[in-house]
Amino acid sequence: MTTIVPEELHPRDAYRLLISVLVPRPIAWVSTLGADGSANLAPFSFFNGVAGSPPTVMVSVGQRAGHAKDTLRNVQETGEFVLHIVNEELAEAMNFTSGEWDYDVDEWQKAGLAQLPSIDVRPPRIAAAPVALEAKLVQTVPVPGSSYTMILGRIVRFHIRQDLLRPNGMVDAALLRPVARLAGDEYTTIGSIFTMARPQV
Ligand SMILES: Cc1cc2nc3c(=O)[nH]c(=O)nc-3n(C[C@H](O)[C@H](O)[C@H](O)COP(=O)(O)O)c2cc1C
Repeated sequence: MTTIVPEELHPRDAYRLLISVLVPRPIAWVSTLGADGSANLAPFSFFNGVAGSPPTVMVSVGQRAGHAKDTLRNVQETGEFVLHIVNEELAEAMNFTSGEWDYDVDEWQKAGLAQLPSIDVRPPRIAAAPVALEAKLVQTVPVPGSSYTMILGRIVRFHIRQDLLRPNGMVDAALLRPVARLAGDEYTTIGSIFTMARPQV
């Protein structure tokens, strides 16, 4: 085995190594509005669920040139966001919205994405997204020693494309066809799906 101590790496290399082993990562495509009403859309793969009930997720946002990225700024200003699951059809548009545009640039227009209104929060949702999760800010948590801030958000409404929901109340991953992030510019799709029953103890 090669043993690596992250303190001995350049921060950039520690990041690259970490994201190459935490694979695949789900992608949250996040819609927010600023206090001035400016719209923003950007993807984040430091993203996961952290509690089942109430359903709670985290998205961790780094800085750009020493300032909060637009998504974090907007969430801190308004406390609301919508997370979308990216499927294969939407992968290119998602990637396009990761461009580090200035605050006043509307990624929706740039990517040519149609909007639908949300119900419980103000940021709009992506009409073509198979899943949209309306969320309200619970807490922002600065990650000690880093330039990242973790956003904890409570899901207040799920929007699920009708054909995806199984009778058991869960989404069919094979139909959802999510795209997940690997390292660098690499992505993956769902491979084979297998089942394992949990041990009965
Ligand atoms: C698939 C993907 C995942 C990303 N994940 C993150 C992430 O977890 N945290 C982060 O700070 N930036 C991440 N980025 C970079 C942001 O999307 C990028 O900095 C974007 O410009 C931020 O937009 P904003 O300033 O409008 O919020 C990711 C980019 C891509 C393409």
